[in-house]
Amino acid sequence: MTNICVQDIVKAFGQDPILRGITLEVGSGEFVAVLGRSGSGKSTLLRIIAGLEFADDGTIDRNGNVAMVFQEARLIPWLRVNENLAIGKNRSELNAATAALDEVGLSEKARVWPATLSGGQAQRVSLARALVRAPNLLLLDEPFGALDALTRLEMQDLVHSVRSHHGFTSIMVTHDVEEAVRLADRVVILGDGQIILDEQIPKSPPRDPADYPQLVKRLLGVLGVRTHVAA
Ligand SMILES: Nc1ncnc2c1ncn2[C@@H]1O[C@H](COP(=O)(O)OP(=O)(O)O)[C@@H](O)[C@H]1O
Ligand SMILES: [Mg+2]
Repeated sequence: MTNICVQDIVKAFGQDPILRGITLEVGSGEFVAVLGRSGSGKSTLLRIIAGLEFADDGTIDRNGNVAMVFQEARLIPWLRVNENLAIGKNRSELNAATAALDEVGLSEKARVWPATLSGGQAQRVSLARALVRAPNLLLLDEPFGALDALTRLEMQDLVHSVRSHHGFTSIMVTHDVEEAVRLADRVVILGDGQIILDEQIPKSPPRDPADYPQLVKRLLGVLGVRTHVAA
């Protein structure tokens, strides 16, 4: 079953189109990683899919709730963590907030102020805030981009386990080839406003990218990055 169907999306800011006809069909429960160089239009595409931005042309069909996690946690500083999750503050929202915080391993932070959280904790809260919406489609825009390498690995594990538990469809933008290989069912590369690679990754995630040196090298090649790693 298809959860989201993006067809012929075109978007320009000014003269040159950033997206020149993007077509992407994502099946229900599928996890797609979108790679591309900086400025290739990844965030723009995700924002259009989320409905935060309009395309100049093309269509998007999607079903169910959509939630998004950004590179910065974007928590409201004058609301405690659980209030950031349950803006309505009614009983059922607060219960959902408690469950989501528990799921990301931060139950004990429910009543603290966002400013007291580490970067990794803030991103966990922002993931929990997305889970409160019971998303059918979770959009992740470089959610771990600002984190140190170890925290990043922990967050990748968390995203994998949350995904296994909830079964939502997910599109994750990342500039990290290894992250894509670790987590996704399928990888798409944006270049020149178009999809220049779209392929399934063998076996189920999570994977150790070290077991896929050829794939990592090939993806880097398509991205235009040369490495000296033998593969
Ligand atoms: N609101 C905007 N107004 C003008 N230009 C924009 C806007 N958003 C993005 N751009 C431009 O579109 C291009 C693609 O941006 P973006 O989608 O953020 O790329 P990526 O996420 O792949 O780095 C960039 O050149 C960026 O400067
Ligand atoms: Mg971006």
